[in-house]
Amino acid sequence: MAADAAVNFNFLHKTCKVVVLLCVLHIFVTLFFYMRSSDSSIAFVQNQQQNPRFFASNNRSSPSEQTAAVNGERASESRGDEERRAGGEEGQQSQAQAVVKESENKQQEPERKLGKCPETSPLLVGPLRVEFTHPSPTLELVKKENPNLSSGGRFKPPDCLALQKVALIIPFRKREEHLKYWLYYLHPILQRQQLDYGVYVINQDGDYTFNRAKLLNIGYTEALKDYDYECFVFSDVDLIPMDDRNTYKCFSQPRHLSVSMDKFGFRLPYNQYFGGVSSMSKEQFLKINGFPNNYWGWGGEDDDIYNRLASKGMSISRASGEIGKCRMIRHQRDQKNDDNPQRFDRIAHTRDTMHKDGINSLTYRVVKTERLELFTQITVDVGTPP
Ligand SMILES: *[C@@H]1O[C@H](CO)[C@@H](O)[C@H](O)[C@H]1NC(C)=O
Ligand SMILES: *[C@@H]1O[C@H](CO)[C@@H](O)[C@H](O)[C@H]1NC(C)=O
Repeated sequence: MAADAAVNFNFLHKTCKVVVLLCVLHIFVTLFFYMRSSDSSIAFVQNQQQNPRFFASNNRSSPSEQTAAVNGERASESRGDEERRAGGEEGQQSQAQAVVKESENKQQEPERKLGKCPETSPLLVGPLRVEFTHPSPTLELVKKENPNLSSGGRFKPPDCLALQKVALIIPFRKREEHLKYWLYYLHPILQRQQLDYGVYVINQDGDYTFNRAKLLNIGYTEALKDYDYECFVFSDVDLIPMDDRNTYKCFSQPRHLSVSMDKFGFRLPYNQYFGGVSSMSKEQFLKINGFPNNYWGWGGEDDDIYNRLASKGMSISRASGEIGKCRMIRHQRDQKNDDNPQRFDRIAHTRDTMHKDGINSLTYRVVKTERLELFTQITVDVGTPP
């Protein structure tokens, strides 16, 4: 009898232990999810506060405010990056499995079917040395170092199916020197990122005032005539990333790629900054009716684009400040690209004008299309300011 009771007690004791353990586990899991959701609701509140109607004031806001905002954003973003990286490893494993299966089937199937590229390319090397040596690298050298490109500056990874088809759009006028550095640095990076990509230099014809955003709209339109691109990277010609983990592709939110530029002391000038290098999927681009066509001269068009995406409930995604480092080639302001005095007035009215002014109202004339070895150059007449 006594032995029986002891066994019973023992059993009860163990069961209790298990129940208590389960309870503790449950509390931890609940806490974890609670923390995460409160975290993201804080981020949401911040986002809402960052949606004022007039962004012009951002160029004048106090530096301490800006730094605080930047740090907050960085922290949340690097977490995102870790998640993505973790996801990438899984991708790599299944990729490896796919390769094994493929080689088994090889004998029966002479037509090799490519498996998908992994979420994170195994070819990436991380931080890069970027220097603007004189003289600049010649186009011959760039061609020699990138033998796998095809006509028009196109590339596809040879051994896997790229996850995204990316058109790189560069607004351009008389910056041949800068373009050489861009091609020299970017082609190898983009190939290591395993993208199916094409480079489009949109060259504004004539000497009238420069119109960056309109050139970007034109690049979007012209690239789509070539191939069913699903992602568009809009890059100034003078910006070079310093880390190839900053992938030039699209994300679930519009992506700002030139996160910490040397020009701004490797910091974001302000949280809503969307200038320099950015990417948008076709869907994101169409949701905001593309970019404005009526910003002539320097400044403001990037803030207008930010207003467009904020008004459609989108937010900016970014890599961490470390991975998002980039260098700008020093130069003097181009001729015929003076400050646009109307820019403050225009960005105050983005919400009213964006549905009339954009990809749906774009007019231009193609003067010349050239398929060069390292890029496609499209020279266009964008018209003149009214
Ligand atoms: C070109 O592609 C081949 C595989 O098709 C590869 O082995 C080679 O390393 C590539 N060359 C460069 C410079 O990327
Ligand atoms: C504010 O400054 C940034 C960075 O130089 C620039 O890209 C943006 O266009 C400016 N905005 C206005 C309204 O001038």
